[in-house]
Amino acid sequence: MTQSTSPLPADLPAGLPTARLGTDGPLVGVQGLGCMGMSEFYGPTDTTEALATLEAALAAGVTLFDTADIYGSGHNEELIGPFVRAHRDQVVLATKFAIERRADDPHYRAIRNDPGYIHSAVDASLRRLGVEVIDLYYMHRRDPQVPLAESVGAMAELVQAGKVRHLGLSEVTGAELREAHAVHPIAAVQQEWSLFSRDVEQSVVGAAAELGVGFVPYSPLGRGFLTGAFASATELAEDDFRRHQPRFSGDNAAANAALIAPIQRIAAERGVTAAQVALAWVHQRAAVHGLTVVPIPGTRKRSRLAENTAAATLLLDAAELAALEPLAAEVAGTRYPDMAFTATARE
Ligand SMILES: NC(=O)c1ccc[n+]([C@@H]2O[C@H](COP(=O)([O-])OP(=O)(O)OC[C@H]3O[C@@H](n4cnc5c(N)ncnc54)[C@H](OP(=O)(O)O)[C@@H]3O)[C@@H](O)[C@H]2O)c1
Repeated sequence: MTQSTSPLPADLPAGLPTARLGTDGPLVGVQGLGCMGMSEFYGPTDTTEALATLEAALAAGVTLFDTADIYGSGHNEELIGPFVRAHRDQVVLATKFAIERRADDPHYRAIRNDPGYIHSAVDASLRRLGVEVIDLYYMHRRDPQVPLAESVGAMAELVQAGKVRHLGLSEVTGAELREAHAVHPIAAVQQEWSLFSRDVEQSVVGAAAELGVGFVPYSPLGRGFLTGAFASATELAEDDFRRHQPRFSGDNAAANAALIAPIQRIAAERGVTAAQVALAWVHQRAAVHGLTVVPIPGTRKRSRLAENTAAATLLLDAAELAALEPLAAEVAGTRYPDMAFTATARE
């Protein structure tokens, strides 16, 4: 099966180095922007500030903008659509399918990987975004009941139909990535990877490096916890998703808050922020694995952008990396309330 080549951004803004996702995938600034929090999950949002943040990100050299059909049940795609259309030749638009929700039940989630669902999901995303083609289309979660070749085959049909330029997977094992890549080239894998979440280093990171697949770490700031922005779920809004994550509650939160001390010490010694240390670590850890990496820290605020993009070129030294090395193994509590929702459960 063939893969279309996307045009390079015509007028790439200055400020960030660039990297190519996958052998023939899109060229992007080495740090993207996660847009999820602009619609849901992390407390109330100021829409005006969120839209200004999209513009500020592009001006700072960020070109990979990450959304998904489930973020705000379509709201996030509708929110960023006008921005994407206004800068269509510069923005590399990534969205995702596979998690079905229901309007009448906010807690309902079903993982759908069947071809019929994939074909209807892409049309719905294109409609909400108001664009003719999605640059990078991820399968958000894997349903092991559906043969992977069937799902990736359906995704490849979207490429052939011109609805999608490149394919991605989220929360897959190394074996699943290899199987999918044999069906159609995969440009990027998106998975949680941070100082606190290193289960990806078990198999999928090695497979991606070997296959030349780009890696897009999500939640590289540990959903904000690594920055010191909050120390316990109790500080968060009632409807904040992080209230349900085991590592941010009760005794786990207290133990984990103590763990970020080395991050804060390094930040203070270097005159940078804890967020910058956390992001710099992801970039450097990927280099150890010989992997192209484009983390997508999420923010709804312009004030974070210069800080976060500067971290992409911050180099930690060997002693600093050694001090950070033990943290993940000491984290109390899992990264999701139900780990069946992750690839780690299938490793
Ligand atoms: N594939 C998947 O299954 C999956 C899962 C989760 C997320 N994602 C994607 O990955 C993106 C990023 O992940 P994430 O948003 O979960 O977590 P994250 O990037 O680790 O952290 C985001 C949190 O950190 C805060 N923050 C950002 N920059 C900061 C800074 N310099 N100082 C202090 N706080 C800062 C943000 O608050 P403010 O907004 O107030 O700045 C937000 O609360 C999402 O937006 C989404 O696109 C994908």
